[in-house]
Amino acid sequence: MIKLENVSYTYMSGGPFEKKALDGVSLRIDPGEFVGIIGHTGSGKSTMIQLLNGLLKPDGGRVIIDGEDLSDKKTDLRGIRFKVGLCMQYPEYQLFEETVLKDICFGPLNMGLSKSEAEERARFAANMTGLPESLLDKSPFDLSGGQKRRAAIAGILAMEPKVLILDEPTAGLDPAGRDEILFKIRDMHKRMDLTVLLVSHSMEDVAKLADRIFVLNSGKIEMSGSPSEVFAKSARLREIGLNVPQITRVADRLREAGVDIPAGIYTVGDAYRILLPLINKRLENN
Ligand SMILES: Nc1ncnc2c1ncn2[C@@H]1O[C@H](COP(=O)(O)OP(=O)(O)O)[C@@H](O)[C@H]1O
Ligand SMILES: [Mg+2]
Repeated sequence: MIKLENVSYTYMSGGPFEKKALDGVSLRIDPGEFVGIIGHTGSGKSTMIQLLNGLLKPDGGRVIIDGEDLSDKKTDLRGIRFKVGLCMQYPEYQLFEETVLKDICFGPLNMGLSKSEAEERARFAANMTGLPESLLDKSPFDLSGGQKRRAAIAGILAMEPKVLILDEPTAGLDPAGRDEILFKIRDMHKRMDLTVLLVSHSMEDVAKLADRIFVLNSGKIEMSGSPSEVFAKSARLREIGLNVPQITRVADRLREAGVDIPAGIYTVGDAYRILLPLINKRLENN
């Protein structure tokens, strides 16, 4: 679905403030995958995802979406933007219509759908994100932070993209709001046949959802793999400024103290399953 081949990107190239944001990134994401992209602030996450729908053009390497090379003149970039739905960081600043419904319809109308088709899709998308029907006639400015976030995500879902990219969708929300949105994203992935890329600096969030994780550091892919493969390298993750999930830290400390617990534990359930027999054995021995 998505292929990056040795992609680089530099901001303000040639000037005194030149900044290489991506440096030789290669990756491949298959249709239907749920991928997490993590990295410290400034590691290149937002730059990378803007290359995936042609908002930015690489200064080296190739970006291939669904078999189409984005630097090829023949590629229809408009079509690519409908295919790869990108929900930018703090998307609520882009809500501007009189009503929430109109806002969600903006994308589908732009694609050339009729008003009734656009509204039908908007209602479906709002429902997918958990936005109550009763809010659709309100002004977007009357919504809470979490509701605005949902409205923005619904506006992208309503375009029925094949790929949904979310840049820090839970940033600035309270814990309950974060969990609700994450839960809904998992739901969308399951029910809508989507490829999802979730960008986050929260390891906990990514660990809960992603099948595969890419870790960015200084514009390069530092490591990738399943959550358990990535969290097994917790020492390196901490070195590059990332917080591993709390339960991973607990498991690491236990291992350091001599308890026989494998690396790469990242859910409380896994820790429980591994620790319980160890505890029972101790109790029997005593
Ligand atoms: N518009 C821009 N102009 C100049 N430098 C930028 C711009 N956007 C990002 N950068 C720089 O590029 C690097 C990567 O940024 P970004 O992709 O936003 O990282 P992340 O999303 O992981 O925080 C950072 O050093 C950042 O300061
Ligand atoms: Mg960013």
